[in-house]
Order: sequence, then structure tokens, then C-alpha cells
Amino acid sequence: MSILSIDETLCTQDGLCAAECPVGILYLKEGQTPRAVRSAGELCIRCGHCVAVCPTGAFNLKGMAAADCPPVRKEWKLSPEAAEHFLRSRRSVRNFKDAPADKDALAELIRVASHAPSGHNSQPVSWIVVHEREKVRQLAGMVVDWMRWMLEHMEDQARAMHMDLVAASWDRGDDRVLRDAPHLVVAHAPKAFPPSAAACTLALGYLELYAPALGLGTCWAGYFTAAATYWPPLAEKLALPEGNAVFGAVMAGIPKWGYHRLPLRKKPKIEWK
Ligand SMILES: Cc1cc2nc3c(=O)[nH]c(=O)nc-3n(C[C@H](O)[C@H](O)[C@H](O)COP(=O)(O)O)c2cc1C
Repeated sequence: MSILSIDETLCTQDGLCAAECPVGILYLKEGQTPRAVRSAGELCIRCGHCVAVCPTGAFNLKGMAAADCPPVRKEWKLSPEAAEHFLRSRRSVRNFKDAPADKDALAELIRVASHAPSGHNSQPVSWIVVHEREKVRQLAGMVVDWMRWMLEHMEDQARAMHMDLVAASWDRGDDRVLRDAPHLVVAHAPKAFPPSAAACTLALGYLELYAPALGLGTCWAGYFTAAATYWPPLAEKLALPEGNAVFGAVMAGIPKWGYHRLPLRKKPKIEWK
């Protein structure tokens, strides 16, 4: 059975689907609608570009009918100013209200984040959401255990990453690891799969950018991610599927306050060739 079905009444035979296909499995013969090569079923990466590019909605990919793919809303296109403002006004949020975020809102964040690009459209990211604040706190404590081990066995490296200060803050009741966040969202993927790292990073980037639209705030959890990689007790606690590794995590919750200015950053270093 073919991987595509064409609505012959809508197809204008413009060839855009074939020209767009990143794996080159579509072709058109003069005066005919598009067809797929015989091995298309194995080669198609299901990126949906054929459906997305068709201006008349004639192209249906198996399991991805044009009617199920929402139209691009041209009236929602951001101006350059609005796009820059959207990107620059996102902040790392480290102060959260006590009230928890709805599970539905966190699931919605992940749903949208799942539209981030991934190598070969592999979509390798899986998620863990730690929803209970007490469990987040426990995980932060395990990260501090790792820091104490690091301070004992790899002191220079640990101090360079300010682990001495973070551990001392923890002892004073100040959580500099997961910022007393109500929730933690962890992205994991197959360890040995080359696209995994970029896919998790990009998905978390999408999630972070989308969060303010739902009244949520996030902050990358770098210490947690390192500990999940290097501290076996934490890896065990997370109970990832065999062969998977954590490639990133963010704290999440309802921000305690907002921001009123766009802070400045270094000038980009560009070498034009
Ligand atoms: C990979 C990565 C790891 C980070 N880890 C932490 C962290 O463990 N704790 C923290 O408070 N902020 C962490 N941050 C947030 C950065 O400090 C923050 O992005 C930076 O200060 C710029 O602020 P902004 O995100 O509001 O622009 C991390 C950011 C990235 C990208």
C-alpha cells in the first residue's frame, strides 16, 4: 500500500512535494500526480514537508492527512520586532509561587516542545515530570550528595563549578540546585544515538520559550543534568529505560514575579568568510 494518497481534484501537479522531500522519494511524470518510489515506506522520515508545502491540501501522507494538519496562520506571523521581543523577554525563572502548576499545563508544554526539530525527524526525546515538590527536593539533595563526593575526590573541578558554595547554601536551607522549584521536567533519550543531545536541548528550548504563554516559568537545571550523568544513585533513582541518558532538565513552576527590562548580552563574535 502506498504511503501517500493524492486528492486528484485538488492536485495542480506543481511538483512542490517532490522538490521539498528531504529524502527524494517522490516524483512526478509529465501530466501525472505525484508518486512514491517503491522503497518509500522504509525511506520516508515522516517529516510531513510534502503535506506542509502543498498549497491546495491535495497531498495526504499515510497517517498524516492534510485535513489533520492545521493550516499555517499567516495573520499570526510575528514581525521582526515582535519575534525579537518574544525571544529576548524569556527569562530563567528561579523564584516560584508555592501553588503547583496543573499537570495539564505541563503536559501542554511538552506537547508543544515535541515539535522541535530532531535529526532525521527521529523524535527520540522521552520525558519525566517530577510533579511533587517534596520529590524535587529529594532529587536536589541527591545532587548535593554528588557535590560533596566531588569536593572530596575532585576538589579543583568541584570548586571551579562552585559546588562548595552550593553545598554550603544547602546546609543553610537554601536550594541553589533546583531553586526550591515545585516541578522538574527531564528530557532523556537513547545514549548512543547521535541526534539525542541536540534533540533534547532543542525540545527543552522550545518548552522554555513556550512556558510564559501558559503563565509558567522554567530554568535549566545544569547541576542536576550533570549529576544525573555522573552520580549513579541519581541515575538509579530516575530509573530511565535501559540505554537512555538524561540530556537536559528544567525546573518549572508559576513565576513569583515578572521582568520589566530586556537585559543586554555580549556582542556576537562573527567571522565572515
Ligand atoms: C545548559 C544550561 C544550564 C544551566 N544551569 C543552570 C543551573 O543549574 N541553575 C541555574 O540557576 N541556572 C542555570 N542556567 C541558567 C543560566 O544561568 C541563564 O540562562 C543565564 O544566566 C542567562 O539568563 P536568562 O536565561 O534569563 O537569559 C543554565 C542555562 C543553561 C543554558
